[in-house]
Amino acid sequence: MVDLFAGCGGLTEGFHRAGFRPLYAVESDRHAAATYAANFGDHVDCLRIEDTSTDDYPRAELLVGGPPCQGFSNLGRHDADDPRNRLWREYRRVVEIVQPRVFVLENVPRFLRSDQFRQLELEVKVGRIRGYEITYGLVNAADFGVPQRRIRAIVVGSRVGPASLPGPTHTGPGGWISLQDALSGIPFETEASGLPRREYADGIPGPFKANELHLQRHPTALSLERYSHIPPGGNRFNLPDPLKPPCWLNKPTGTSDVMGRLEWDKPALTIRTEFWKPEKGRVLHPEWSATEPGRCVNRSITHWEAARIQSFPDDFVWCGTRVEIARQIGNAVPPVLAEAIARSLISQGLFD
Ligand SMILES: C[S@@+](CC[C@H](N)C(=O)[O-])C[C@H]1O[C@@H](n2cnc3c(N)ncnc32)[C@H](O)[C@@H]1O
Repeated sequence: MVDLFAGCGGLTEGFHRAGFRPLYAVESDRHAAATYAANFGDHVDCLRIEDTSTDDYPRAELLVGGPPCQGFSNLGRHDADDPRNRLWREYRRVVEIVQPRVFVLENVPRFLRSDQFRQLELEVKVGRIRGYEITYGLVNAADFGVPQRRIRAIVVGSRVGPASLPGPTHTGPGGWISLQDALSGIPFETEASGLPRREYADGIPGPFKANELHLQRHPTALSLERYSHIPPGGNRFNLPDPLKPPCWLNKPTGTSDVMGRLEWDKPALTIRTEFWKPEKGRVLHPEWSATEPGRCVNRSITHWEAARIQSFPDDFVWCGTRVEIARQIGNAVPPVLAEAIARSLISQGLFD
């Protein structure tokens, strides 16, 4: 398989577990490429896809990865010069070179309503990669055993017969994996306030094991006081008025995830790239007690916990600063979802 826009390799991890051998990957961010290399080997080129040449690519059975969301343009406003289309032209170029039996790409749900998706449909119908049939839809990672409600668009292109998307294996809410299961064995206490000093290559920190990423933050006394008022499933609306910042006092409605606390018996919500900021989402640790304040864990989830929620195994290693590693974790396709997609494609006989 070849992985484009590979990030840290969440897709590769899942497909590898299902039996695919990664041959080549492209990733422009040097920290993400280092994480990929530390886990899968040095067949990753740290380049912009635009700067790769035909000779870089091996022939492969499978191509995974798709251009990241750069703010898709809306349907019906087709403009060939739109810079957002550039990466899609590159993508088509690589499909032509690699000629995979199957390509798989993952993206945010609104991709399916974008002009870029419409162009992909045209390319496979009448364009330079005609011969591929595409199947697409939305999947919820929680339905495949990932402890996270993360909805993403999956597109599968096949030139060896129609493919279908995998069917759910863990239909919720009863079948979903809870945070209780996902975070088991991770101590409530954080262990260090910084990453160990270690260099992977060229000044890139790493590699770090998951348990080295259980890092302390230093919220202000006011933040800690706020967190202590928020029960599992609660959010900023649980704050007493004197603890609300003026902007929240004046805006009593709005998104209910801000400063939200997770719940032990449910999956998490979508892990994003700034999961350590309670003011950006539902990321407070689920442990809480109304009667025993000492039992409350008044902090956001750590990198270790976020990686578990993204279904990375604890032996996956990470390179970069804490901000860059968080971006890699939040951007990744959960490996358990990727593995379910891979196994489903194999079982459809597309690689026989
Ligand atoms: C959503 S992330 C990919 C996540 C990955 N599929 C995974 O499962 O871990 C998109 C990646 O594309 C990379 N990227 C963005 N523009 C690129 C370009 N022009 N060439 C190569 N990589 C690029 C970003 O650095 C980012 O790591």
